[in-house]
Amino acid sequence: MHIAIIGAGYVGLVTAACMAHIGHHVTCLDIDATRIERLLRGDLPVHEPGLDELVAEGLANERLDFAADYAAIVGSEVAIVCVGTLDGAEEWDGEVVRATVLDLARDGRLPRAIVIRSTLLPGTARSIAAEALALDPSVRVAHNPEFTREASAVSDFLAPDRIVIGIDSDHGDAAEDPLVAALRDAYAPLDAPLVVTDLSSAETIKVASNVFLAAKVTFANEISRLAAATGADAQAVVDGMGLDKRIGRSFLSPGPGFGGSCFPSQARALPQLARRHGVQTPLMDAIWPSNVSQAEWLIDGLERAAGRVLTGLRVALLGLTFKAGTDDLRESPAIRIGQALLARGASVVAYDPLALAAGLALLEADAAPALAAGSAEGADDEVAACHGADAVVVATEWPQFRYLDWAAIGPSMRGDIVVDGRQLVDVPAATAAGLRVITLGVEATAAALRTA
Ligand code: UGA
Repeated sequence: MHIAIIGAGYVGLVTAACMAHIGHHVTCLDIDATRIERLLRGDLPVHEPGLDELVAEGLANERLDFAADYAAIVGSEVAIVCVGTLDGAEEWDGEVVRATVLDLARDGRLPRAIVIRSTLLPGTARSIAAEALALDPSVRVAHNPEFTREASAVSDFLAPDRIVIGIDSDHGDAAEDPLVAALRDAYAPLDAPLVVTDLSSAETIKVASNVFLAAKVTFANEISRLAAATGADAQAVVDGMGLDKRIGRSFLSPGPGFGGSCFPSQARALPQLARRHGVQTPLMDAIWPSNVSQAEWLIDGLERAAGRVLTGLRVALLGLTFKAGTDDLRESPAIRIGQALLARGASVVAYDPLALAAGLALLEADAAPALAAGSAEGADDEVAACHGADAVVVATEWPQFRYLDWAAIGPSMRGDIVVDGRQLVDVPAATAAGLRVITLGVEATAAALRTA
């Protein structure tokens, strides 16, 4: 099948490269001509494991092409819209999706089958489809949300839990719609259940799945606070809970709060949408404020363990990205922690293997007023960051932080506190080096807090 992908951002590139990999001829369009030139040389604007290889494969076997002009997709059977949906303030905004669909609809040479893959707030696809149909009644609009995670997007695409197709079909049974049939064929090489439903339900499946997972993480975070207070071991608690098949263990790991480009914006947007419809959603309303307060709770724990305010303390911040395996800093809890430290007058020495310079710039830009109190600088590696530190905070679960040489780090530190925000510090090794490890929601935390 000849497929056009509109948008060579994160979602567009993964979709394009994977569609080419499973046998389709794909042309990926972007208005940014420089980006297209770089992509044609195999130079990717995003860091995603396995994506470089798939792009190289597609360019080599000529199933994947990049272009900056709509003329390149004349003759494609389907156009899949993967343009961005966040405004400058990281809030959801569907205007670019709408404009792109209408541009396609206006030009009769371009595919009449338009599939929106960008995330939409429930209710948006239906109005975009109505506008597109008003321009050309032969246009068909479907919504095919993606469920890929950064850092594992390629494998998530190729082995999905489900494929969701939303369409407001005039064929009676949506499953009989020709566009649904085309998408079923396109995805045929993948072994996954197909959910065919209406446009609004497809949008809601996508956003509600993300917000549900965000709620699950938030629940685990609140349990970690309770565990620290009552002397329970949060790790054991979530492991025990997760064995219940109805609950499941994934997305139940306490941490410094969720981040990224999806959970935060959607955890805010869904309850806002409910309010606009006059619907009360007290549970959903609570997710974002609880998430933000997790970073403060963590820093409170550090302050109590230090037995003093943080002004003047030197804190090593290990990890800046919102999770491991990506260079994405958007709404990263590590940045929230860094800013909270600066605001309390600590000086922060940060290290991140992929995003140190950009992360520091973000810390300094967003925490500008607080910098009068604390200061931020970068270190060349984890060990250098900890040198002379009063405390270490592990904020991102980069695998190498699991294997830190505490025997070497401990004596180089000025203080003895390690706050493990990701439950990966080798506690026996750090303890043997004379350090006090405060692991999220573990009994030792409660003990450390009691003795502090
Ligand atoms: C998320 C969803 O998982 C994808 O299914 C979805 O397609 C994507 O958003 C999207 O809408 O595009 P992503 O933002 O890449 O993917 O990140 P996740 O791996 O889901 O993690 C989100 C946040 O939750 C991270 O900050 C992570 O550290 C945190 N988290 C996750 C926890 O704190 N604990 C957990 O147990 C799991």
